[in-house]
Amino acid sequence: MTKPPPGCQVRPIREADIEAFWRLLESVASERNFLGSTRAPPRASVRDFVLEHIARRQPQHVAELDGQLVGWADITPRGQDATRHIGTLGMGVHRELRGHGIGLALVLSVIDAAWRLQLKRIELEVFPDNAAAISLYEKLGFEHEGLMRMARLVDGHYRDVYRMALLHPDIHPRISDPDIRAPGEE
Ligand SMILES: CC(C)(COP(=O)(O)OP(=O)(O)OC[C@H]1O[C@@H](n2cnc3c(N)ncnc32)[C@H](O)[C@@H]1OP(=O)(O)O)[C@@H](O)C(=O)NCCC(=O)NCCS
Repeated sequence: MTKPPPGCQVRPIREADIEAFWRLLESVASERNFLGSTRAPPRASVRDFVLEHIARRQPQHVAELDGQLVGWADITPRGQDATRHIGTLGMGVHRELRGHGIGLALVLSVIDAAWRLQLKRIELEVFPDNAAAISLYEKLGFEHEGLMRMARLVDGHYRDVYRMALLHPDIHPRISDPDIRAPGEE
């Protein structure tokens, strides 16, 4: 596995990162191929999102290289009653720095923080042609849970979206225990 470049630091986001985070989000969103929208949300809502993550100690980590913010990953707890054990993952790396181990370092860091926050399930949505992201998620044990057909309309084209999820390691091994058989299995 590729290691991040020397000097690349993965750390929790700070209030002072908000403008750089918004610009990075805008830049990845405007590539139009990867995120759920083609523009970043307005600065004010991004600011609220980040401040809420900081205040609640929710996992939102950034990668910094040579003083520049070059990647982020966040896991946002759903926080409601029967879904409060679930967090939703979002991430991105600056296009010129992909393939250097930064995404892996970021996602490992936020998953670890999510488990410490007592989350038990991390879910995400990804376009089926996003080979890099799917490979990364599969490598970490995320499993495919379904295909949402025509789930996005981008530049006049309908696009399908995969749903993937990762369960807490204390839970998942019990489900895949060879002694446990789902109904109908031999
Ligand atoms: C997905 C993304 C975050 C991965 O970050 P990254 O820093 O490029 O990934 P890394 O260099 O850490 O690679 C980790 C793993 O991802 C996979 N991967 C990365 N680039 C890949 C590529 N071009 N093709 C196939 N797999 C790739 C590999 O499994 C790799 O492991 P390896 O190094 O052992 O082969 C990055 O490509 C990105 O920002 N993409 C655009 C935004 C996006 O897709 N966000 C996720 C939306 S669901």
